Amino acid sequence: MKYFLDSAILEEIKYAYENWGIDGVTTNPRHVMNSGKSQEQLLKELAEEFKGVENFPISVEIDPHLDDADEMVAEGKKFAALSPNFIVKIPCTEAGLIAAKRLEEQGVKTNVTLVFSPSQALQPARVGAAFVSPFIGWKEQSGDETASYIQDIVTIYRNYGYETEIIVAALRNGHQIAQAAVAGADIVTCGFDVYKQSFYHPFTNHGLGVFTDAWDKTVKS
Ligand code: E4P
Repeated sequence: MKYFLDSAILEEIKYAYENWGIDGVTTNPRHVMNSGKSQEQLLKELAEEFKGVENFPISVEIDPHLDDADEMVAEGKKFAALSPNFIVKIPCTEAGLIAAKRLEEQGVKTNVTLVFSPSQALQPARVGAAFVSPFIGWKEQSGDETASYIQDIVTIYRNYGYETEIIVAALRNGHQIAQAAVAGADIVTCGFDVYKQSFYHPFTNHGLGVFTDAWDKTVKS
């Protein structure tokens, strides 16, 4: 399963790419706001940083005010012209799905986002979007069950041989990462701290304490 970093902080992205081998990046308007940079500046920096790096998708989200497919396509084409790594992130609305279809037909890759049900996940696959992003954190916060939700999307895609890659998004902990992997999702996208915490377990630290103690008490030659 591939790991994407859900962030627009360049230092985090560089660190996770160099040290953790992340496979791609997803951004959204909230991440861009938190970066303290304009989207224009951020895209310039990301394009420059990953220039020449192949197979490293970076999802960049269109202006959420847009609700017209033609305008979405125009903005998506602008992003795609900046870097071959950029994937146009589009909301799962009717206009968004029409725009995704048109962009994919013109060779521009898309990531259909804000997906909250298996039925919603079908159309991005039918129109050939490169990626679909079902969110789980937001659903769980609202009391929804999410294990079968991701499993159902994976099963549906397998039933019909859809090639759209499933990015399980808005994950909050290692349990949800494992849940996505058990379901057979292609990708997870998580924030920097969620990955960091998922690398640890309290028993690992406990075990290190036990072994360090034993090491120190071992007869030295
Ligand atoms: C995914 O592509 C989104 O950027 C992301 O997961 C949104 O949710 P969050 O910011 O609440 O994690």
